[in-house]
Amino acid sequence: MTRKFFIQTFGCQMNVYDGQRIAAMLNKHGFSQTENLADADIIILNTCAVREKATNKVFSALGRVRRAKKTDALFGIVGCVAREAGETAFKRIPDLNFVLGPQSYHKLPEILENPDIKLFNIDLTGLEKFDELPQMEKSPTVAYIPIQEGCNHCCTYCIVPYTRGRELSRPFKDVIRDTEHASETGAIEICFLGQNVNGYKYTDETTGKTYRLSDLIKETAKLVNIKRIRFTSSYPTEMTDDLIDMFRTEPKLLPFLNMPIQSGSQNVLTRMNRPYSLGLYIDIVNGLKSARPDIQISSDFIVGFPGETEEDFEQTMEIVKRIRYINSYSFKYSPRPHTAAALMKDQIPESVKADRLAKLDSYLNELQRKFNESCIGKTMECLCEGPDKTGKHLVYRTPYMQQCIVNTIKDNQEKQLANIRITAANKASLRGDIVD
Ligand code: SAH
Ligand code: F3S
Repeated sequence: MTRKFFIQTFGCQMNVYDGQRIAAMLNKHGFSQTENLADADIIILNTCAVREKATNKVFSALGRVRRAKKTDALFGIVGCVAREAGETAFKRIPDLNFVLGPQSYHKLPEILENPDIKLFNIDLTGLEKFDELPQMEKSPTVAYIPIQEGCNHCCTYCIVPYTRGRELSRPFKDVIRDTEHASETGAIEICFLGQNVNGYKYTDETTGKTYRLSDLIKETAKLVNIKRIRFTSSYPTEMTDDLIDMFRTEPKLLPFLNMPIQSGSQNVLTRMNRPYSLGLYIDIVNGLKSARPDIQISSDFIVGFPGETEEDFEQTMEIVKRIRYINSYSFKYSPRPHTAAALMKDQIPESVKADRLAKLDSYLNELQRKFNESCIGKTMECLCEGPDKTGKHLVYRTPYMQQCIVNTIKDNQEKQLANIRITAANKASLRGDIVD
């Protein structure tokens, strides 16, 4: 009987990618995937540590796993919580079998060969995992391709530089090999991933040539099967002219960009160690708009950063009004271990954070609804994600990552990319009809 694995992924797209590679690795070892915990011989929680709530979620999920699993099933955590918790994870859950950091999960097979060990490795081994893991046999329609690991920016609130280490860009030819493989095995859209994706910089030692993200985009755009290209997440000051120019010259690059500002207050940005001026950020947005007039920008925001005054928060609301962001993420500041901001004075009370978040969210939602409504009557080329839960509709993704529900499934089934005329909209999604 084939052995089975169960994997649950939390957090970012990088984790989704890691989860897919773990699944491919276990498939190669003769395991098949199950959605049923009680059937699994090995259970992996692929974890996120970016906010305290995310970490807590993992430990409560581990409690559930222990109760539901077969007695002899192996279980453990991989990813950022493994690195955050380190060996204390075994203290909290003594029967845990493995704890593997985000750069060492390729060592998982060691426990398959030797199930009695406690497998522990949270080393920052750099790009080693990319060489060790097998490719997926079939690519999803949207292929997420990491182009770097780690981050050098050291924002004072962020645990990522600790959990994923210093920034390392993958060799240009390795990334292109992955995009070609994805394109040959079913991908239509490529999304390049990195914590600081637009900081990608790789110098080929033999030729001395330095490659940037714009080079990856140009090379990928040559693949005929690939119709859409995007990247996430961008750091404002790494938005170089060659990259901005791509929005002018490369039609496969979607007119949508996630470029987190985090706060609209210059004082808060300084304490966050995000040393760009608001003026520069606005100039970059204007540069992007002149390169691609239909571009829309999304952002991440943190409210209630230590010392954030009511006036600082109002400045965040002001910048939202000015840029008119769509599709954004907003979070209450959460103190994290190994970060400078956790030690700052003037931590903001939870109730104040909650009030500010509610105010920001309601404004972001209103902007999203207005943008969605402005799409009514337009025709957009959208990518199919598959049927919805009822099976009666197809769900598509617009170039702006809006969800668009198509009314009829008849005859449309095979249409992975379709021109859709938008007929209705609310805050959460669009509705439309396929025109060709
Ligand atoms: N550049 C990264 C950002 C990683 S964290 C990327 O590729 O997505 C994602 C977002 O989580 C950040 O942009 C920030 O808005 C939020 N975040 C990070 N640390 C946080 C903390 N301590 N509290 C609240 N939000 C946080
Ligand atoms: Fe974190 Fe700032 Fe890097 S948010 S991932 S340290 S750009």
